[in-house]
Amino acid sequence: MFEDKIVLTGVKPTGHPHLANYLGAIKPAIAMGKQAKQHNMFIADYHAINAVKDPAVLQQGIKEIACIYLACGLDTDKSIFYRQSDIPEIPEITTILYAYTPKGLMNKSHAYKASVDKNREAGKPDDDGINMGLYTYPTLMAADILAFDTDVVPVGKDQVQHVEIARDIAGAINAHYNKPLLKQPEFSVEENIALIPGLDGRKMSKSYGNVIPLFAEPKELKKLVFAIQTDSRPMEEPKDPEGILVYQIYKAVASVAKQQEMAEGLKQGKLGYGHIKNMLLDAILEETKESREKYEYYMSHFSEVEGLLENGAAKARPLARRTLERLKDAVFGR
Ligand code: TRP
Repeated sequence: MFEDKIVLTGVKPTGHPHLANYLGAIKPAIAMGKQAKQHNMFIADYHAINAVKDPAVLQQGIKEIACIYLACGLDTDKSIFYRQSDIPEIPEITTILYAYTPKGLMNKSHAYKASVDKNREAGKPDDDGINMGLYTYPTLMAADILAFDTDVVPVGKDQVQHVEIARDIAGAINAHYNKPLLKQPEFSVEENIALIPGLDGRKMSKSYGNVIPLFAEPKELKKLVFAIQTDSRPMEEPKDPEGILVYQIYKAVASVAKQQEMAEGLKQGKLGYGHIKNMLLDAILEETKESREKYEYYMSHFSEVEGLLENGAAKARPLARRTLERLKDAVFGR
């Protein structure tokens, strides 16, 4: 489906990913590298500085994200893997895009509107604490995408609007110069990804504090898994597995055969909550065993990772430069 497409994936280096990030974003992005004609995978560190002002925290975030993607199997021969801030053509393209980006389009951006709403709720002025980076970030994101003649951007639902903004800006520029200077990207939302609940049954999300971090230490992991909400029904009571949170999370990580084993055990009253929590713990450890070891390796050999990122930038820059030159020729009439 993506064999003849240029696909681009961006990830913000803010915070250690959790299991739902892994299953819903990291794994599919890595698979994309094996499928697409070209796959660009980048760490959106210019986006991160809008929020993260401590360089040590930022570096740690970049390091973790880079090591996680590599540990989980990103193939850097197939995916062009780079840090956004290593590609100066991207902010240059952004500056040109600004001239064609209606301010009203930025006013309507979800991320900005959400920050304004938060301020209003707190009784603060609308733009309190909102910097221009956050306000204009859909334009930078458009440059991330348009720089590489991207066909498809796989995103979560919350990012669809931003890909549409990239389409709109590209369309406006193409119409103005009456030629196809920028490729208008499509978004792709994976509808089949199961919603993975967190420890309290709500969607797993950092903002709810209910997450299972991808590479939590086994001891910490055990503590978290045993904190998953259950009720006080005795083991012998037959239970509908679908109503049991541990089982819902298990479904996201265990093989079909193992899921059936747990489902049967619950229906027949042969498995108690302690059993199924241990089963979940084992499944998570098994799913992440190899990548956890690789993660630790990359974290302690970061100069190797640095080399891979520099290679990626060396591949990405000429592509972005081509787009930038095409734009400058048209805009400045060179
Ligand atoms: N805005 C995206 C997020 O918050 C990250 C991102 C930045 C991105 N630039 C991108 C995603 C380009 C896809 C394409 O998750």
